Amino acid sequence: MKDKIKKVSSLEELQTLYSDTFGKNGTMTAKLKNMANLSNEERAAVNTENTELRQLFKEKQNELELAALNAKLATEYADVTLDTEPKNRGTIHPLTQSFKEAIAIFESMGYTLMTGPEIEDDWHNFTALNMPIYHPARDMQDTFFLENGNVMRTQTSAVQIRAMEKMGAPIKMFALGQCYRRELDATHSAMFDQLEGLYVDKIEKNINLSDLLGTMRTFASKFFGKEVDLRIRPSYFPFTEPSIEIDMKWGDKWMELLCGGMVHPNVLRNCGVNPDEYQGFAFGFGWARLVMVKYGLDDIRAFTDGDIRWLKNSGF
Ligand code: DAH
Repeated sequence: MKDKIKKVSSLEELQTLYSDTFGKNGTMTAKLKNMANLSNEERAAVNTENTELRQLFKEKQNELELAALNAKLATEYADVTLDTEPKNRGTIHPLTQSFKEAIAIFESMGYTLMTGPEIEDDWHNFTALNMPIYHPARDMQDTFFLENGNVMRTQTSAVQIRAMEKMGAPIKMFALGQCYRRELDATHSAMFDQLEGLYVDKIEKNINLSDLLGTMRTFASKFFGKEVDLRIRPSYFPFTEPSIEIDMKWGDKWMELLCGGMVHPNVLRNCGVNPDEYQGFAFGFGWARLVMVKYGLDDIRAFTDGDIRWLKNSGF
């Protein structure tokens, strides 16, 4: 019997064996019932056997239950380590991607990337750019004013001022960043990105509009990946004189590429640069429009909607 118990390999089997031994008609039960007919020694032997068998059953049950639990744990194994391998890798946002391209192109032409704050004071955003408080050109930029008189930067041109105040001249810098105006439709976003450039050097270097045109031709050809046709139109900005707009031929249409001109002497003076010694050009433009043209996108708002389907299909 003892050997039998030891050989049992499942709880069901043990249960059956237990019933056969201690159940109503079990062998041990029968022996216990028969105690009255036994001698003292025989009773003692039955009692010992009874205790030993119960002990053996208990031990075997514990052993089998533990084995079952271990088997269960082996299959239900909980991995408590952190899985650091991302399942869904994100992609770089189309705008960020295009910024990288712009930065690489302008840096390759010797321009240094500079930044300025998005909350600007009146001086850097307007006044120093030859747009004093009474200037009607301010009306063209639907400005978000803060209560303390500062503004949400309406143009990255403010960074030109900060750059020249800090570095003086000669200077060859560009800036890229968010600007804010109170306007919103398919081609205008209240928060939009501009790219700005400034190149000022000694008058003897004769930096002029054809340099600006050449620079923009190089930039556009690199960014759009093919030689582009440009044309110049006269324009007006308070901070450049003369001021121009440059169009680019795209398919059979001319589209506005950017604005620019020769930096106005007042702007140089406002930054402590002597206009009798230095001259140069500046340019600036809304960035997203170029990206939209390059990739055939038609709604500027999609850039900030955060729609993952658009992001995946935007051609990048
Ligand atoms: N800041 C102008 C705007 O937002 C764009 C611009 C025009 C920038 C001429 C320039 C510039 O640097 O020379 O409309």
